[in-house]
Amino acid sequence: MSTAPPEVPDRATVDETVKVIIDHAPRIFSWNYDRSRPQLVTLYNKAMGSQWNSVTDLDWATDVDPEAMVATQADPNPIRLIAEKAVGLPGSPIASWGKKELDQLGLEILKAQLSQFMHGEQGAMMVAAKIVETVPWIDAKYYAATQTMDEARHTEVFARYLHDKLGESYPMSPFLEEQITALVEDSRWDLAYLGMQIVIESLALAAFGGMLKAATEPLLKKLLRYVMSDEARHVAFGVLSLSEYYADLSEAELKIRQEFLIEATINNRSRSTTPEVWERMGVDTKAVVPYLKEAASTMGNTVDSGFVANFYSKLVPNVRKLGLLDANDGYLRERWGKAGLLAFDHGPDTADDYDSYDAVAADRSVGA
Ligand SMILES: [Fe+2]
Ligand SMILES: [Fe+2]
Repeated sequence: MSTAPPEVPDRATVDETVKVIIDHAPRIFSWNYDRSRPQLVTLYNKAMGSQWNSVTDLDWATDVDPEAMVATQADPNPIRLIAEKAVGLPGSPIASWGKKELDQLGLEILKAQLSQFMHGEQGAMMVAAKIVETVPWIDAKYYAATQTMDEARHTEVFARYLHDKLGESYPMSPFLEEQITALVEDSRWDLAYLGMQIVIESLALAAFGGMLKAATEPLLKKLLRYVMSDEARHVAFGVLSLSEYYADLSEAELKIRQEFLIEATINNRSRSTTPEVWERMGVDTKAVVPYLKEAASTMGNTVDSGFVANFYSKLVPNVRKLGLLDANDGYLRERWGKAGLLAFDHGPDTADDYDSYDAVAADRSVGA
C-alpha cells in the first residue's frame, strides 16, 4: 500500500504566512562554564522544577460557552464600559445598541486580547532564543533556554484556546509588531532584554492579571495562573541580569537605556484599540472613535487605573533596581515623575517577589 506524500504548501502560500526580520546582533559562544551567578542558578533550577505540561496539566475537555463567559465576567473590560457610556451620547453610531451587542463586543475584545497575547508570546519566544545566542554568560544562556520553552508553551496554549474554544483570532496589532520587531533586529543584547524582560513582560503580567481577575471560566483561569507563574520568573531574570550589567555602563550608555524606557512607556501606543474589533461589529471605526473618546473623558482615568497601577507597580521598582531611575541625575525619575508614574517607587521588585507567583508549585504542594 502506498502512502501519498504530505502536501507541501507552495512558495507563495508560505510567504503570505511569514514575516522575515533580520537580526543584527553578534552570536556569542562562551568557553566559561563556571556557575558563577548563584541567583541565576537558583532561578534556572526553579524554572526546571515548575515546568508544566500544556496537554496534561490543563483540562481541554472543559466546555466553554463564549457568550455566557462574557456575560458573567466578574470585571467588565474597560473598553466595554466606555462603549456602554458612548451608547447614550447624542448622535452616537452605536445608539441602538443593547446588552446583546455589548456582550458581543465584550467577546470580540476578549478574542482580540488573547490574540495579542498569542502573537506577543511568539515574539517572546524569539527574543528568549535570541538571548540564548547573544548573552555572554553561561548561566544566562541556560536560563534563557528554559524561557524559550516556556514561551513556546504560552504561544501554544493561547493559540489552542482561541482556536478550540473561541473560534477565531485577530492579526497582530501593528504597534506590538513594531515594538517586538525592533527588539529582534537590535544589535545590542541588553536592549532585547530590557524591552522584553522588563517592559513587555511586566506589561504582560499586568494584562494577564487583569484578565484573570475578570475570568470565571475554569480552563482560562488555570491557563492564566500557570502562564503568570512563568512570566514572573522571566521578569526576575531580566532584573538580575541587567542590574549586574548596568552597574558597569557609563552615564552616557545608561542615558540611551533611559531614553528607550521613556519611548516604551510615555510614548507607547501599543495598547490602542484594535480597529478590527469595530469592523467585526459592523461599526465604522472612524465614526465611533470620537464618541469613545468623549465617553472616556467623562469617566476620568478611572477606567484603566487598575491596569496602569498593576503595570507601573512592577515596572518602576524593577527599573529602580537596574539603576536606571536615578542615573544621569535622576533623568528618568524626573520624566516619569512628571507623567505621574512614580507612586509605586517603593514597592518590591520582581527579583525579590517572583516566587509568590508560582501557582504551579502551589498546586503541586496540595496535590491539585
Ligand atoms: Fe510568556
Ligand atoms: Fe515571558
